[in-house]
Amino acid sequence: MKDYSELKAMNKTVDMTRGRPAKEQLEIAMPMLEAAGKLDYRCGAQDARNYGDLKGVPAARRLFADIFGGDEKNVVALDGSSLSIMYELICCAMHFGIMGSKAWRDREVKFLCPAPGYDRHFAICEAFGIKMIPIKMLECGPDMDEIERLVSADESVKGVWCVPKYSNPTGVVFSDEVVERFAALTPKAEDFRIFWDNAYIVHALYDEDIPLKNLYNLLEERGKQDMIYEIASTSKITFAGSGVAALRMSEGNIEDFLRHLKVRLINPNKVNQVMHANFLKDAAGVREIMKKHAAILRPKFELVNEMLQDAFKGEERVSFSKPKGGYFVSFNVQGKAKEVVQLASRAGVHFTAAGSTYPYFFDPNDANIRIAPSVPDMDELEFAMQTLIASVRMALK
Ligand SMILES: Cc1ncc(COP(=O)(O)O)c(C=O)c1O
Repeated sequence: MKDYSELKAMNKTVDMTRGRPAKEQLEIAMPMLEAAGKLDYRCGAQDARNYGDLKGVPAARRLFADIFGGDEKNVVALDGSSLSIMYELICCAMHFGIMGSKAWRDREVKFLCPAPGYDRHFAICEAFGIKMIPIKMLECGPDMDEIERLVSADESVKGVWCVPKYSNPTGVVFSDEVVERFAALTPKAEDFRIFWDNAYIVHALYDEDIPLKNLYNLLEERGKQDMIYEIASTSKITFAGSGVAALRMSEGNIEDFLRHLKVRLINPNKVNQVMHANFLKDAAGVREIMKKHAAILRPKFELVNEMLQDAFKGEERVSFSKPKGGYFVSFNVQGKAKEVVQLASRAGVHFTAAGSTYPYFFDPNDANIRIAPSVPDMDELEFAMQTLIASVRMALK
């Protein structure tokens, strides 16, 4: 194993800052583009190449209904980014309220933020001046005692961020008990919403997927389906930022949302939606595609795990996740994350800034580093991990 100065002298650069698909993964969806010129874009009475169908083409809505495990009537299929949908939902709540509630602006609004979590969720809150309350992320999901306590006591708690499956960055899949406790929440605020960001809903690394209880269905059984916005996209199924994102919500929420959406949009990119629906077909079709992604990603995750296991056996100040899906390994080095990220960066290996996985960039233990192994090839990844390990050893000396 090379030491830090030897690795630095190699003058290599590896970017591990974001969970992007690797180039070979992007090739998987190229047949979709090849088929695109010959497709029939007429969808019943509507022509996908023309204006109309604000909720998206029926085939794309059916595809996502199948992925979500729900009904097409509750799905709106939109453009390339689920993040922009989440931003828009909050922007609308800020300006107009939700289903007749008072607008959130000019009032105190708080969101519960399981942490470590997704930095861009936190960035949306910061942009709108929403106060973020960190919630401890446990092995089975967020600390539900804390969530129940805050949601039922405080009218200004309007939302909670959740990445329920192969969570970013911990890889946690929420347990049945956690999902059931979400379904049983009794919020003080009538316009409280669970932002169920199911970004990794079909992103298993192994044949054996870890099942997630269907929160929307549980809420619907209790007549509480207004409480959830479920979101997903094909960003890591076909092309990042150039796919289809979709929203599953109650009919009341859809009506409310479309009232605002129709002011800025006549319809989403339906040509792209037809291409996607034709290529992916249904949830089973998506699972076949995802096996190809997993075959590329799995060796990278396994290399990361093996190298960390070898390097830090018996080291109590270090811990790391071994995810079964998603895009990240969550690495913890007590009190040293900032220093390690800086050291690695000086040696050419770039991670997301330490602290990014916490609201306001405040990691109380300065411990968490998000490892995104997808982009580098195996040689680059080995170099990156050697550099991370050497940086950790140096910081812990
Ligand atoms: C949890 C989570 N949500 C949303 C996104 C962004 O998705 P999209 O490309 O659909 O905007 C990501 C991307 O890394 C993510 O990790």
